[in-house]
Amino acid sequence: MNYIDTNKAAWEEAFENRHRDWGEENHELLQNEKLYFFNPDMRKELEELDLNGKTAAQFCCNNGRELLSLTDLGIEQGIGFDIAENILEQARATAEKAGIENCSFISSNILDIPESFYDKFDIILFTIGALTWFEDLTLLFEKAGKCLKRGGMLIINDSHPFVNMLPLSEEEGFKPDNPNRAVFSYFRKEPWIENNGMGYMTTEYKSKTFTSFSHTMSDIINALSENSMKTVKLKEYDYDIGMTGLYENKGFPLSYILIAEKST
Ligand SMILES: C[S@@+](CC[C@H](N)C(=O)[O-])C[C@H]1O[C@@H](n2cnc3c(N)ncnc32)[C@H](O)[C@@H]1O
Repeated sequence: MNYIDTNKAAWEEAFENRHRDWGEENHELLQNEKLYFFNPDMRKELEELDLNGKTAAQFCCNNGRELLSLTDLGIEQGIGFDIAENILEQARATAEKAGIENCSFISSNILDIPESFYDKFDIILFTIGALTWFEDLTLLFEKAGKCLKRGGMLIINDSHPFVNMLPLSEEEGFKPDNPNRAVFSYFRKEPWIENNGMGYMTTEYKSKTFTSFSHTMSDIINALSENSMKTVKLKEYDYDIGMTGLYENKGFPLSYILIAEKST
């Protein structure tokens, strides 16, 4: 099996082992507040993009909470893609319970999204913990570029590449008395191999293998430009959107928003 197939198996297993009630209240939370599942900086950027009547996709959409939240901006149609079939069942159930009819969810490896979706989307969204599942960002953004319409926008809100240098408290190199240390290489090429479940969905268990990858900021921007997507905005933040809160507000770049426009 290649790493993508083993990741699919590991994500589906994680969903089977999810915390009781994980994601079960999302249909109610969606009613709470406009763009509920986005942070304030993302809300501002999404509102400025004027998505009314547009067609949107989320790649690696997980249980669909963010794509469903995007319907607050009047999108005409939303399609979420994810490799984990059972997690998408929860996305569909959430949409139904929330009465959202213009979003659908398709199970696919992003790299295998079929031609029928080419030139279809005005916006493609990648959020928290999406890029890391792809070894080769050029291939990933080649697919995204094909799916975007000319003039369409790709928006990423993810953990900052610098975060890959910081150890979690249980990892080798973490020093409780001096935690503010970067210990891993920014340029790491070896994959991250993990067998402890999926922190935010499950308690720890001996899981199937998750394989993920570090990318630098230049890897991201260059892979976009190689695929005719010009970065028009890059913002970096010292707050954490994916990890532990361990390094918040210490002057480290922990998350970012990048917007790129497809030029041809
Ligand atoms: C960390 S989750 C995204 C969480 C989401 N942004 C949120 O906050 O709810 C990453 C998702 O990527 C999906 N994934 C991993 N590799 C993939 C691939 N090759 N193609 C499509 N989806 C993939 C996993 O199934 C998982 O649902």
